[in-house]
Amino acid sequence: MKRAIITSALPYANGEIHLGHVASTYLPADITTRFLKATGTEAYYICASDDYGTPILIQAEKEKKTPEEYVKIWNKRDYDDFSSFGIGFDFFYRTSSPENVSFVQDTFKKLMENGYIYEQEIIQFYCNVDKKFLPDRYVIGRCPYCKAEDQYSDLCEKCGRVPQEIEEPKCSICKNPPTKEKTKHYFFKLKDFESELNQWLDADSHLQKDVKKYVQNWIKDGLVDWDITRDIKWGVPIPLDDAKGQVFYGWFDNHLAYISSALKYLEGKGIDGKEFWNSADIYHFIGKDIVYHHYLFLPAMRIGIKKEFKLPDYIPTRGHLMLQSKKISKSRNWYIGLKDFLQSYPADYLRFYLTLITPYSQDDLNFDWDEFAARINSELIGNVGNFVNRALGFTKKSTGGVIPPAENLDLADKEAQDKIKNLAGDLVPLMEDNNLDRALKKILEFSAHFNQYFQKKEPWKGGEGTNNCIFISVNAVRSIAISLSPFLPESSQKIWSQLNLQGAVSEQPWSSMSDIAIKEGHMLGEPTPLFKKVEAADIQVHKSKLGK
Ligand code: MF3
Ligand code: ZN
Repeated sequence: MKRAIITSALPYANGEIHLGHVASTYLPADITTRFLKATGTEAYYICASDDYGTPILIQAEKEKKTPEEYVKIWNKRDYDDFSSFGIGFDFFYRTSSPENVSFVQDTFKKLMENGYIYEQEIIQFYCNVDKKFLPDRYVIGRCPYCKAEDQYSDLCEKCGRVPQEIEEPKCSICKNPPTKEKTKHYFFKLKDFESELNQWLDADSHLQKDVKKYVQNWIKDGLVDWDITRDIKWGVPIPLDDAKGQVFYGWFDNHLAYISSALKYLEGKGIDGKEFWNSADIYHFIGKDIVYHHYLFLPAMRIGIKKEFKLPDYIPTRGHLMLQSKKISKSRNWYIGLKDFLQSYPADYLRFYLTLITPYSQDDLNFDWDEFAARINSELIGNVGNFVNRALGFTKKSTGGVIPPAENLDLADKEAQDKIKNLAGDLVPLMEDNNLDRALKKILEFSAHFNQYFQKKEPWKGGEGTNNCIFISVNAVRSIAISLSPFLPESSQKIWSQLNLQGAVSEQPWSSMSDIAIKEGHMLGEPTPLFKKVEAADIQVHKSKLGK
């Protein structure tokens, strides 16, 4: 049996999940996991909250909570929001778990034994106005590589690189230039991994070509060693006697929680976690802002512990979501929280729309309220909902819901039946290659074909081909339910129940969507409309809330 572990970038336990998070990362990972499960892969979707780091510590202090209390609240809230969106994690843990803390410390010790860690005195920015050390996000300045202004010292948003030393630094709180203080930090010898990283990039055929190319260019320009220590109190403690209360940088520990959380989950099920990891396909779904971390730091650290845990096979990387063509910004209220959205519309509406607008590429996406309404109304409801309701409703009316026999198929019937027989196979390569948007469009084409078929056969006239039309259409509805199951888990189960079929639609083998499995004499359930139209007036209200 094939095996897979799927992860998506761990959300910071520091603020609510919004549409930008789910479009590029959680939804594609969830659909892929559901697809893999349906094709018989033993697949587990593992995630966790990303609990450590300076911003979280400062926010907790502001709210007069301990950081432990603070991250616990967000861990639960995030998990609940994801669940109401139909994200089916097999396990959602946290980077601050005891398992991750010791895994990170062990990894550090192994890297040290293998000669990849050294200590060095560095100059750390300090703000005399705010009276604090200024790591990462607390310093802004010019990117030393691409010269973009106003970049954070831990990541340049323009070129995606992690600057070693930002130029013309300023404290991001008070905008004054910081002073410099001496402190000792640990460094990871990223530079030592240039050739092995190149080898891995060359060998892994599943990585996206364009991403690979710019990562290879970074390597060509030369990598620099990586400061993995921070002078704060909230993080994984450095496991050495003279550590002076320092902790690891959040990006040193967070991705290790992919592994430590998977081990915890698998071992809880009585599975040998390490053996499973090393025999599975490993997927890390991310957004394009964290390419540097996932294509360089993460693999280098795994190589540095002698590939005790195998490197990723897939790192599906997608662009940022824009909102009404503008950058999402919480402070300007140009932003839609996931929870808020789901109070107005079913999860499946959002899953449907986001999947359609999210290609497998770095291109930015755009959430547009009018387009959302149009695509739900015309494609989800006007195409899929319409065909399902027509086929089942007509059968109920004309035969009481009992499936009639099919005989003497004409050309249109045969063509329709072939569509059913080919559907599973047509979708597999698209799903396997992560072209989820194109797969969903294929299903819509399938449904559109059956709308036309039904229309042409005019079964309401009770002519000769009526029985065949009912028989084939109801089977096509079944195919639609199975094929939509990874995309629209709730609606596909509703269709399944209306068909009065046994078990859960999510448990049906993928290939079975191409069977003609509903036979003569089968009795349908109760057909009811699956979806409710999106009203233009409501869309106006949603639009007017933005930016206020
Ligand atoms: N919390 C990080 C972010 O939102 C992502 C962490 S992904 C991991 O950018 F690999 F580091 F875990
Ligand atoms: Zn830059």
